[in-house]
Formats: sequence, C-alpha cells, structure tokens
Amino acid sequence: MTRKVTLGARLSPVLAVFALALPLHATPVDDQLVIEGENGPVEIVTEAPAPVHLKGVLETIYSGWRFRNAETRALERDDFDNPGMVFVDRGRDKWNAAIGAKGESCASCHGGPESLKGLRAVTPRVDEKTGALMTLENYIDTCLTQRMGLESWNWTSTDMSDMLALISMQSRGMAVNVAIDGPAAPYWEQGKEIYYTRYGQLEMACANCHEQYFGHMIRADHLSQGQTNGFPVYRLKDAGLLSAQKRFVGCVRDTRAETFKPNSPEFKALELYVASRGNGLSVEGVSVRH
Ligand code: HEC
Ligand code: HEC
Repeated sequence: MTRKVTLGARLSPVLAVFALALPLHATPVDDQLVIEGENGPVEIVTEAPAPVHLKGVLETIYSGWRFRNAETRALERDDFDNPGMVFVDRGRDKWNAAIGAKGESCASCHGGPESLKGLRAVTPRVDEKTGALMTLENYIDTCLTQRMGLESWNWTSTDMSDMLALISMQSRGMAVNVAIDGPAAPYWEQGKEIYYTRYGQLEMACANCHEQYFGHMIRADHLSQGQTNGFPVYRLKDAGLLSAQKRFVGCVRDTRAETFKPNSPEFKALELYVASRGNGLSVEGVSVRH
C-alpha cells in the first residue's frame, strides 16, 4: 500500500530549513535547451505534460536543468564546455579496449556504441528473456561477468560511470519512456511506495522535497522535481560523474537515514519509478548540475 505524504499538524523538523518566506509561485526558470554537439544541435525537452500516472499530483514535469543557475545551465549548452564529456571519451576508449578474457572488446560483439541507441530511454526495464529488472549497469555487468570472463566493475567505479556516460549519450534527445505495466508493474509499485515513505530522523520522503516543494529553496539549493532524465550527471560540487542511484544515496543521507545500497532491489525499483515520473522529458546524455 502506498502511503501518500500529507503535511500533518506536526511539522517535520526539516521544514525549518525551508525558507519560510516562500515565494507564492515558485517556478523553474523559463529557458530552452539546445545542445551543440559534434553532430550538430540537439533539442532537449525540459518541460512536458506529466505522464498519466501522475494525474492529480503534477501537471507539468521539468528537467532539473530548469532549476539551476544561468552559469550551470550554460555549461550544458555546448559539449565543448560540458565537463562530463571527458567521461564519454574515456567510455569510448573502454568500449574499444580488448579487455575480455579472450581479448574481446565490447565493440567485437556490439559494433559501435550507437548500436545501443534508445536503450537509455527505456531502462530500467524488465528483460524479456530473463524476467529480471535491469538497469544499464546490470546490462553492462552481465556482459562483463558472463560474456567476457571479467570481474564485476564496482557500481560506483569510474569504469562504470564512463560506460554509463557513453551509452546514455547514444540516446540524447530521445524521450524517456520506461514501461510501468505488465511485468514491470510490481517493481514500479515497490518503487512508488519507497518514493512516498518518510525516512530518517527528518522524516522526509522523496515526495516531500521533489513533489511538494520543488521550485522552493532548501538551504542554498533550488529544489527540482528530482528527475533522472539528465543522468549520469556531472556534479560540479563533486567534480565527478554521478549515477541516479548514487544521487539517491546522497538524498537519503540528507534525511539522516540509513540508505539502501546501489544495485539493491529497493534502489532498482526506485530508479524505475523515478524514471517513469520523467516519461516525456529528453535524455540529456551527460548533464551538468551544481
Ligand atoms: C530534504 C530534501 C530532499 C529529499 C527528502 C530528497 N531529495 Fe533529492 N534532492 C534534494 C536536493 C536539495 C537536490 C539538489 C537540487 C535539486 O536538483 O533538487 C536533490 C536532487 C535530486 C536529484 C537530481 C536531479 C537532477 O536533475 O540533477 C534526484 C534524481 C533526486 N534528488 C532524487 C531523490 C529521491 C529518489 C529521493 C528519495 C529517496 C530524494 N531525492 C529525496 C533534496 C532532497
Ligand atoms: C561476447 C559478446 C559480447 C561482448 C564482448 C559484450 N557483449 Fe554486451 N551483449 C551481448 C549479447 C549477446 C547481449 C544480449 C543481446 C540481446 O539480448 O538481444 C548483450 C547485451 C548488452 C546490453 C543490453 C542491450 C540491449 O539492447 O538489451 C548492453 C548495454 C551491453 N551488452 C553492453 C556491453 C558492454 C558495455 C560491453 C563491454 C564491456 C559488452 N556489452 C560486451 C554480447 C556481448
């Protein structure tokens, strides 16, 4: 059962960190994103009607890009300025490297990385053949361990984030479109439940910050809807690339709760659910956030 978040009479302690003088209509900035890449400009949808399953909850969905300041937004307009592109280049080198036990590379079986075009837009998804819920990381890991005779890459390793960056770039500009019905339904329900559950000493759910208060300031941050269409994200603060689940870890920790681990069943289900809240926004490839 999903517990809807309501603000009871007893205010959660964290609300003290929201500035009390909230602007009446806290909104994302009005701006448009066209990314200049090596193959010409790509238009990015950063605002779209909310998917049907969010009816009555949200009318419009926005990319996190629309909540960042002008300087940060500018870094994503041109791949030349985007510090995340270094990871894409490194991912391409890894893609072509003969690292397999028999000297094989990703390219020996898959050809160019463009053969994975579209995959980022539909993952996490339930794999037709195995029935398992698969993130991009799970697919990469399956090839490493079952097809190349290699050890698993750590979920938060640079090898993994480089490959995520390269594969995500192949779907830049495509609409996020994860399936939530059929075999995905139980995972989606599980993720939804987690999204609305209050965690930690601060008793905050994802929904408190990203559904109820997006557009407002929390400490020095302009709260977004917590969408994942931009992932992996180059985070200026960390000077590094973040996967969606790595971002979730940070958000849960901020509520002073014990967090689930990357690749846990809980975070995989949550990643599917959060992705579905962004169905209709563009995959950004590698985005830039502060
Ligand atoms: C106490 C408030 C708070 C809670 C609770 C919270 N977050 Fe966040 N989250 C933030 C802040 C602040 C940021 C950085 C600014 C932004 O993009 O909103 C952020 C960023 C994000 C982003 C990055 C968005 C982007 O475009 O870069 C995602 C995804 C996200 N959160 C998901 C979640 C999920 C899933 C949960 C629940 C497990 C959660 N958050 C819980 C405050 C919160
Ligand atoms: C020995 C051949 C082989 C090698 C080497 C290999 N793969 Fe695969 N890969 C496959 C096969 C076979 C599939 C399953 C295709 C299917 O189910 O349609 C697959 C599936 C995938 C998928 C999911 C694609 C989809 O559309 O469902 C990804 C992502 C992937 N591989 C990434 C990689 C990466 C990254 C590497 C290098 C680290 C790699 N693979 C190396 C054979 C290989």
